[in-house]
Amino acid sequence: MSFTVRTQPSGHSFSIETDETVLDAALRQGQTFPFGCRSGVCGACKGRIVSGNIHYPDEDDIPALAQINPKTGEAILCKAVAHSDLVIEVNNIPELAQIKSQRYPVKVKQINRLSDDVMQLFLQLPPDNSLNFLAGQYIDIILNDGSHRSFSLANTPKNDGLLELHIRHIKGGRFTDSVFNDLQKNDILRIEAPLGSFFLREKSDKPLILVAGGTGFAPIKSIIQHLIDADSSRAIHLYWGARDVVGLYQNELAQTWVAQGKIQYTPVLSEQEDAWGGTKGWVHQQVLNDYPDLSPYAVYICGAPAMVKAAKQDFCAHGLPESDFFADAYEFNLK
Ligand SMILES: Cc1cc2nc3c(=O)[nH]c(=O)nc-3n(C[C@H](O)[C@H](O)[C@H](O)COP(=O)(O)OP(=O)(O)OC[C@H]3O[C@@H](n4cnc5c(N)ncnc54)[C@H](O)[C@@H]3O)c2cc1C
Ligand code: FES
Repeated sequence: MSFTVRTQPSGHSFSIETDETVLDAALRQGQTFPFGCRSGVCGACKGRIVSGNIHYPDEDDIPALAQINPKTGEAILCKAVAHSDLVIEVNNIPELAQIKSQRYPVKVKQINRLSDDVMQLFLQLPPDNSLNFLAGQYIDIILNDGSHRSFSLANTPKNDGLLELHIRHIKGGRFTDSVFNDLQKNDILRIEAPLGSFFLREKSDKPLILVAGGTGFAPIKSIIQHLIDADSSRAIHLYWGARDVVGLYQNELAQTWVAQGKIQYTPVLSEQEDAWGGTKGWVHQQVLNDYPDLSPYAVYICGAPAMVKAAKQDFCAHGLPESDFFADAYEFNLK
């Protein structure tokens, strides 16, 4: 059995089966809905049910429900299943219309250790394939049991078929343990790519504040390199937060961009290091110290969920329009 979903304000419609979520049905049929984790954690897929009935098959396991007000019709579309025809209000993202995600086998081309707990992976798409993606998007690695693990693309959208990931070791983590202990050059992985609505909005010319926490540097690197390659005149201030100096695992690259006059750069360490003469504390707090009025800026932030959540609240309280706050929170994968 299937139902029909109509979207406002775009006026599109698509069908939905009773055993799929609204987001899955939308993406399957080329709709350009916003989304992040696809596992009910980040809240990026929020929409509003104008008419019709939905339900959540695993309601107790959807942290993002705490972020919405169901009384006003708000819903987490990556977990909502239709019980009738629906009319929903959702912010379609026109740039995603040119992006089609699909599954690929990829070969591990290179594995480099960037720090004690960060590995750089280069994955090669099959011959004659390249990935059409937007700087900032992520991919999913598909494990043998069908579960997914998400990682941001650190390279720029070039047609060379090579994908770069920065992978932090989660001790005891199924996939990242295997990356640190077993993965070999020429191993084959399966991926779904590209994914997500965290990407550089190129129609805006607002000055950029880019905030990375740990391996949240990966998509920020992609965005910066893309802007540099495009000879963009947008002002860029990069903030990179890490526990210690080792966590700034591509600090030299950031310093090279500074030396080339491409960016301003503020690395911020949260743990005391005697030899560190730079900024200390929480990275999002440092942004507020430097920019007490954020109203003229666009902010892109990526990394730990707690950092992203605190930044959204505090940046918007300091004048940043919510429509100029873009984030990917590195949630655990529950899918
Ligand atoms: C959109 C998106 C993009 C991401 N991009 C990146 C990226 O570029 N680089 C990167 O390093 N990570 C990234 N992450 C996080 C990454 O997906 C997880 O760290 C990864 O899935 C862990 O897989 P695992 O199999 O090793 O751990 P699992 O076996 O899934 O988890 C084992 C246990 O470790 C804990 N755990 C899992 N993930 C995390 C985490 N992120 N932080 C703290 N504890 C955790 C949980 O307690 C979990 O039960 C991203 C996440 C999302 C949603
Ligand atoms: S909660 Fe739905 S995409 Fe993250």
